[in-house]
Amino acid sequence: MTTIQKVSAVPSPRDAGEDGGPLLEVRDLHVEFHTRDGVVKAVNGVNYSVNAGETLAVLGESGSGKSVTAQAIMGILDMPPAKIPQGEIRFRGQDMLTMSAEERRKIRGRRISMIFQDALSSLNPVLSVGYQLGEMFRVHQGLSKKEAKTRAVELMDRVKIPAAKARVDDYPHQFSGGMRQRIMIAMALALEPDLIIADEPTTALDVTVQAQVMDLLAELQREYNMGLILITHDLGVVADVADKIAVMYAGRIVEQAPVHDLYKRPAHPYTRGLLDSIPRLDHKGQELFAIKGLPPNLLRIPSGCAFNPRCPKAQDICRTQIPELEPVTERDGSELPGRAAACHFWKETIHG
Ligand SMILES: Nc1ncnc2c1ncn2[C@@H]1O[C@H](COP(=O)(O)OP(=O)(O)OP(=O)(O)O)[C@@H](O)[C@H]1O
Ligand code: SF4
Ligand SMILES: [Mg+2]
Repeated sequence: MTTIQKVSAVPSPRDAGEDGGPLLEVRDLHVEFHTRDGVVKAVNGVNYSVNAGETLAVLGESGSGKSVTAQAIMGILDMPPAKIPQGEIRFRGQDMLTMSAEERRKIRGRRISMIFQDALSSLNPVLSVGYQLGEMFRVHQGLSKKEAKTRAVELMDRVKIPAAKARVDDYPHQFSGGMRQRIMIAMALALEPDLIIADEPTTALDVTVQAQVMDLLAELQREYNMGLILITHDLGVVADVADKIAVMYAGRIVEQAPVHDLYKRPAHPYTRGLLDSIPRLDHKGQELFAIKGLPPNLLRIPSGCAFNPRCPKAQDICRTQIPELEPVTERDGSELPGRAAACHFWKETIHG
């Protein structure tokens, strides 16, 4: 199910609660699902942060916990079956997990918004896109129908929908997939949030349209100086737009790094596997590498490092001790800013 999350009615000033720290900081977040088969440990101690004007890409195979983490941030997990036994989700320094429901609603509606993968099922098929965009302004800002429609056209222009004025009364099915996704971006932008979380926003689109939509998101993010979290399982899609990347495996961050550093010199064997499995134009004819095996069953996560059954570098310690996320340094111990990895043998991977 795809939808856009906008719930608050009370706008708060953009700089309220500013403490100089990150815009959003997730600390040691755990999420589990209590099911008939047992406890699914979907998120097992995630830490990441994003600043205003910064794009964080969250990367990982299917089932690694990317969306569940985002849903916890947005407060849209069904509890039960979900449970958050531990962790903090700080927005401008304030933990959203412990604040009042009213305060939470203000942030999660007005200041953080979310874009999902499939625009068609997010939009109401029997209402015009102009009406649905205008609703944001009518409901949240009390604008009249006419004013709201004018703002809807402005937003459609903003996300580069050709002939916006002429098309404002068209219905969702009259737009292509790429244009519908632009409309979803417009909705997410409507109240000028501080942070947008985009969960696989281009996966349903073909490759050329994917790049256009991604470029548009990046452009708007710069223009509005927003934080952007881009969730993807495709490293190729985010390479040009992200500042930094967090790689997830079995509900943990296993590596984080500035985007270009990660490409040039991965420190975790899983990241290396992901990079080696991207088709490259300059390696024509070369056989693609695939990471062997399957992601773990989250009802029974392997002991030690969760990646050990698939890891070409695994040794005995990997089967018993969970590696902590620790700073990655140069061979001489000098700092590599923004870099960390959770692997007992990251030195061998990065320094060869
Ligand atoms: N309501 C639920 N009940 C039980 N398990 C759930 C529920 N929602 C999610 N999960 C499990 O949590 C794990 C993480 O799911 P999540 O959707 O975060 O993965 P993802 O990294 O976003 O994957 P994808 O790339 O496929 O979107 C999965 O194993 C999923 O089956
Ligand atoms: S800790 Fe061991 S199993 Fe895990 S990624 Fe590193 S080498 Fe591989
Ligand atoms: Mg997902």
